[in-house]
Amino acid sequence: MGAAAPESELTTSSKKSRFRVKSGGRLTGSLRVPGDKSISHRSIMLGAIAEGTTRISGFLEGEDSLATLNAFRRMGVEIEGPDRGGLVIHGVGADGLKAPGGPLDLGNSGTSMRLLSGLLSGQGFGVTLSGDASLSGRPMRRVTDPLGLMGASIGTTAAGTAPLEIHGSANLKGIDYRMPVASAQVKSCLLLAGLYAEGETCVREPAITRDHTERMLAGFGYPVRHSADRICVTGGGSLKACNLEVPADISSAAFFLVGAAIAEGSELLLEHVGMNPTRDGVIRILRLMGADIEILDPRDAGGEPVADLLVHAAKLKGIQIPPDLVPLAIDEFPALFIAAACADGETVLTGAEELRVKESDRIQVMADGLAQLGVEAMPTADGMRIRGGPINGGRVDSHGDHRIAMSFAIAGLWARGEILIDDCENVNTSFPGFVDLACGVGLSIEQTWET
Ligand code: S3P
Repeated sequence: MGAAAPESELTTSSKKSRFRVKSGGRLTGSLRVPGDKSISHRSIMLGAIAEGTTRISGFLEGEDSLATLNAFRRMGVEIEGPDRGGLVIHGVGADGLKAPGGPLDLGNSGTSMRLLSGLLSGQGFGVTLSGDASLSGRPMRRVTDPLGLMGASIGTTAAGTAPLEIHGSANLKGIDYRMPVASAQVKSCLLLAGLYAEGETCVREPAITRDHTERMLAGFGYPVRHSADRICVTGGGSLKACNLEVPADISSAAFFLVGAAIAEGSELLLEHVGMNPTRDGVIRILRLMGADIEILDPRDAGGEPVADLLVHAAKLKGIQIPPDLVPLAIDEFPALFIAAACADGETVLTGAEELRVKESDRIQVMADGLAQLGVEAMPTADGMRIRGGPINGGRVDSHGDHRIAMSFAIAGLWARGEILIDDCENVNTSFPGFVDLACGVGLSIEQTWET
């Protein structure tokens, strides 16, 4: 296992980057995208508070999950690696974390901030969580309000945003909480706080959201009860270290699913993709649009389903996206909007107002970028209407949102001219190596850095 990288090497570069994407091409061959971001975060968090040594393979070495890793190092957890996705975490047990001696900077990572706010509310020390400009503008009352009901004390700005000042408390009480938004981050935050609370903590979600926390807690031997619409844990137990394999991230695979679907002559194999049924909305939506995606060799990888996906180009058609699939594809809409722009007819998305509070306002930023490229895209309060047709060349601004930058890169396959994409440096938060991997299967992207 390699030596730990100093924190300074792991944080976001302040240099701006731009993608220049040539038009046309097709995607062929095979690739394995990096590890799942959601699972990588949780593997550090649970490994750190477990008893014993946890070994992880396939960990995402992106800036977001490294922000979580650094936070736990700062709280006294010894972590070897990452070394080609391998990590060894020497767990300190549920009560073994130490005060970090200064604010924890979580960069661009909403998952780190929201999940840590729960886990750290029950510690015997106080801590401040901060982030970059995007994260400092995202709503945090959705976690601080219910944590307050549990007895936690957390300071926010007047707007309910970070920095979060968490005053640790040994006196959390379990609650039964009906979440107003379908959010896996809120659910996970409360379940992690529930590990430290007296009695039972239950969460009810308005729609099913990703269940990696529940699955992983069970993998660490911590009982999670599911009854009707409730998910419950009882505080005061312990986690037992285990070995974990992180599958390839379906959210990163999504760019290539769309790319191979829209680019004539494509035939692409995506290997070992996480197929958790709470995450596979992108496949179901693309299939409804007419995409040709074969699911090969479905199998289990450490408690999570995985499969290889074989995609052939196909003629796509516009659809009304079923609202029940929205939470199951919540991170994939920037890529799906590109699919819609290449489809015959109109695609309509509703019930997706959460897209407005992601790393950027993904409804507005995608609508603006599509309009720049000559696509008829009409943003609505909770979604978008897109009429498929040609995509022109042009220049778009990703507003520092990794998924928007990668979505417009994929659009180059269908575009009639070169696409310039500004503010792409945050692609490293979730998909280090994107440009090389994409170019290896047929995209033509040149990345430049501001000097
Ligand atoms: C995540 C949950 C989702 C998703 C985010 C990762 C997680 O956010 O958008 O990228 O790992 O729990 P919400 O829970 O806010 O929908």
